[in-house]
Amino acid sequence: MISINQGILVSPSILASDFANMAAGVKDVEAWGGDMVHCDVMDGVYVKNLTFGMPMIKALRKETKLPLDVHLMIIEPERYIEQFIDCGADIVTFHPEASKDAEHALKIIRGKGVKSGIVFNPDVDIDKYKHLFKHCDMILVMSVFAGLGGQKFIPQSLDRIKKVKSIFEEMKLDIPIEVDGGINEENAKAVKEAGASILVAGSSVFNSPNPAKTIEILKA
Ligand code: DX5
Ligand code: ZN
Repeated sequence: MISINQGILVSPSILASDFANMAAGVKDVEAWGGDMVHCDVMDGVYVKNLTFGMPMIKALRKETKLPLDVHLMIIEPERYIEQFIDCGADIVTFHPEASKDAEHALKIIRGKGVKSGIVFNPDVDIDKYKHLFKHCDMILVMSVFAGLGGQKFIPQSLDRIKKVKSIFEEMKLDIPIEVDGGINEENAKAVKEAGASILVAGSSVFNSPNPAKTIEILKA
C-alpha cells in the first residue's frame, strides 16, 4: 500500500498532458520526479466537462508504477468506485454532495484496500461533512472550482486548508491534506504553510520549460 503521510508529495494532473499520448504523459511524470499521477474523471453532469473513465485508468495502470490518484467529479460515485479500484486506482476521492451515501462510498473504498478521501469544492460547507473525516485517509481541498484545468488559484483556499487542519486537531486525526487547482511555483509555499502536503499541479508542471525543476520547487 502506498504511503501518503510522508513529507510533501506532488501529484501532477494528466488533464494537462496530451490526451492522444497519455502513456507518454505518465512516463514523463515519473521521469520528472512526480510522486503520483492525478487523474481527473469528469462526467459532464457533476461538472460540465467530460474527460475519461475506467478504461483510461486501466490503460494507464499498465504504463506506470506510480500510484494513481483518482479524483472523481461524477454524480453518485458509489456506482463506479469498485470498478475504478479494480482498474488500478490507488487513491479514490469524490465530492460528498454528489454522493447519495458518502459514508458508504468511503467504506467501499477502504474495504477494497485503497486510500479514500472527500473533495471540497470552494463553495461547499466543510463542517457539514466533518463527520465523514474518520472514514477518510486524506482530504482534498479544491483551490479552484472543479471542472477545468488551468484556472487561477483562489486565495481564500488557504483559509479552507487551515479550517480542515483545525478540524483534524479537534478530532485528533493525522491525515494529509491535498490541494488541487492553480498550484504553481509562486503559491506552493503558502499552501504548504497552510497545512497541505499533497500538491496537485497540472498546467504549472506540463507547461513548464523544466517540469522536473518545477516539481522540485513545489516539493521544496
Ligand atoms: C480541476 C481538476 C484539477 C486540474 C488541475 O477540475 O480537478 O486537478 O487538473 O489543473 P491546474 O493545476 O492546471 O489547475
Ligand atoms: Zn483534480
